[in-house]
Amino acid sequence: MENKKLINMLNRDLADEHAAIIRYMIHSYLEGEDSPIGASLLSRAREEMWHMHWLGMLIGKMGGEPDLTPAPYPYDPTNRKTIFKSYVAYEKKLIPHYIKEAELMDDPHIKRVLQREAWESEIHAKKFQKIHDKLTQEQAKSLPGEENELSESLVEKLQHIIEAKYTQMLQAIRDAWVFQGSGLSGWQIIDFSFTKMKQLAHMAEEVAENGIKPRLKKGNIITAPAIGMALKNTLESVWTTRDLHTDMQNDPEAQKHSGLMANLDLSLKQETYETEEIKDWLK
Ligand SMILES: [Fe+2]
Ligand SMILES: [Fe+2]
Repeated sequence: MENKKLINMLNRDLADEHAAIIRYMIHSYLEGEDSPIGASLLSRAREEMWHMHWLGMLIGKMGGEPDLTPAPYPYDPTNRKTIFKSYVAYEKKLIPHYIKEAELMDDPHIKRVLQREAWESEIHAKKFQKIHDKLTQEQAKSLPGEENELSESLVEKLQHIIEAKYTQMLQAIRDAWVFQGSGLSGWQIIDFSFTKMKQLAHMAEEVAENGIKPRLKKGNIITAPAIGMALKNTLESVWTTRDLHTDMQNDPEAQKHSGLMANLDLSLKQETYETEEIKDWLK
């Protein structure tokens, strides 16, 4: 298969995996990540992150630009029963899709990756089917989500941080994939992306605990052609979220939530660490 065609194909798969991550993550947070259903969904979301990462690495290695716009994830939102039925259908559809793609590949690594995406999708379909079948009557006919106890303005602030951090995290994985050949830099950037995912989770859980869907909306991704430029952009982006976190720290309503305060403090420390590290690399 010609390089450009292959990159386009992998980018479509990347968008599907991205969509699955977002869907399972949001659903998990709404259930509560420590509930059995929530924990299982989070576990699936993590596996979808591997899937997305393998594809992103391939695209970056081939000199392609990863498409970070998630595909739509079609599901019937009526109740848990219909939602899990949709998840089973989504995963099942991917099995023949990836098998067919794998058959077209000459490169043994790409072939193996696509085959693995196929059989892991099959496992996902089975796990979702099991949850679907074991739902209690009450769970089956209802939806996850608690009652909201936060003010509209605090929710908006949290959602704004979620959007900024999500975009920043996507930017980090993009840079790590694209600059994987630039010595240690790719490793260091992917390392920061893990922290960003955690920081994002802190805020997203806070919103979802109040029954509101975290706004995982992608902002502008900068397609920097050189690693130095990408690191400078990263630095500016971290300054922005550091300001947002500081602003939240000073919010009187937010201050009533001790868990949120502890997480904000941790995020700010991590962001200071990151800016100092990057400044050193740029020297
Ligand atoms: Fe997947
Ligand atoms: Fe899956």
